[in-house]
Amino acid sequence: IEPKDGVVTINAQQGTTEIFKGVQSQTFGYNGSFLGPVIRVNEGETVIFRTKNELAEPTTFHWHGVDISGEGDGGPHQLLGPGAMEDVKFTVRQGASTLWFHPHPEGSTAEQVYKGLAGLIYVEDNNSKNLNLPKEYGVNDFPLVFQDREFTVEKQFDYQAVRNDDGTIGDTLLVNGTINPKLTIGKEKVRLRLLNGANARNYTFKLNTGDKFQQIASDGGFLNSPIEMSKITLAPGERAEIIVDFSKYDTESDIALLNEDDAILLPFIIDEQKTNPLQISTSLNDFAVTDKERNLSVTKKLELFGMGKMVYINGKQFDMNRIDFSQKQGDTEIWEIYNKPDAMGGMIHPFHIHGTQFKVVSIDGNEPPVNLQGWKDTISIEAGQTVKLAVKFNNKGIYMFHCHILEHEENGMMGQVEVI
Ligand code: C2O
Ligand code: CU
Ligand code: CU
Repeated sequence: IEPKDGVVTINAQQGTTEIFKGVQSQTFGYNGSFLGPVIRVNEGETVIFRTKNELAEPTTFHWHGVDISGEGDGGPHQLLGPGAMEDVKFTVRQGASTLWFHPHPEGSTAEQVYKGLAGLIYVEDNNSKNLNLPKEYGVNDFPLVFQDREFTVEKQFDYQAVRNDDGTIGDTLLVNGTINPKLTIGKEKVRLRLLNGANARNYTFKLNTGDKFQQIASDGGFLNSPIEMSKITLAPGERAEIIVDFSKYDTESDIALLNEDDAILLPFIIDEQKTNPLQISTSLNDFAVTDKERNLSVTKKLELFGMGKMVYINGKQFDMNRIDFSQKQGDTEIWEIYNKPDAMGGMIHPFHIHGTQFKVVSIDGNEPPVNLQGWKDTISIEAGQTVKLAVKFNNKGIYMFHCHILEHEENGMMGQVEVI
């Protein structure tokens, strides 16, 4: 959907969805019963997101990855009760990217996302409009939201029954809310905008043929040039855009995206008709970590630690009434995030900051891999790793930073930075 007279209407709703043939499952969705729309906006445009909570419980509308004021960010402070409406007005001040939105009420983020509240935001800019890339929505440019869920025998969600303090996982994969998905594409280059929308699970995407694909974008925009990859891992909250060249396969070939363990994530059906010899642009962006940023000293140190209910940032658990850090609007600071192992080794925490896109300066003192040399808002940090991020907020307000394993976030692995 696109703004009409500058307004995009987004309603959080509950309803029923036929996920399994002949069965209605109770679900949540935006502007519908399950998941949500793709909202398309342009850099420089001023838009109003006209949000309404039609659920029977409080929620918030959080714009993950959007450069927006703390007030508009939809974190736990911006709670909307049942029936409440809120206009969020902002000017799009970031380049082409695939962002997303989901609820963020304290204590029920994980459950509301689990039941289906998630949608996408595409930002386009003058650069993206002129690049040679597949860009026909639903033809050669597809959003793909990967989530795992557990259903009861009645094919319902029972979040409380399966909730896990280290992240709720399920035995059923949903892609764009569909079980046993298949995607029909043309014999051409196809752009897949991947979102890991799971509460806790990582996905590693690879082709069953072993062929490489090209990654063109990370969370917050294009990489400088397409990167050849044989696989890519996304932690919860992360996105990547990839281009798969289907023109080299016969229509009868079995082509699929597999997970790390070779489980099928998405099989493709190649349709002969849609042929289109597109030369992908080789220069996509001008992202760089500057020398100045590289030479800044660390001004914020965060230590991630724990598992289950005992998860901490700098030894503390989230408190709505405590501001953990402050930072000046427009200043770049280096945040050093250390994932401290525990006696059992520890676990990966996908670390996310609201209201901005950051640059990865180093991982354990080294240059990040080339596909992390682009705008990011969530970074997967392994136990024992230290990551330095260059973080700048363009707006003021209070912003969350947290582990994007949603149950960790809910168990207190979250803090607040106030931008003044
Ligand atoms: Cu997807 Cu607090 O964020
Ligand atoms: Cu966010
Ligand atoms: Cu975590």
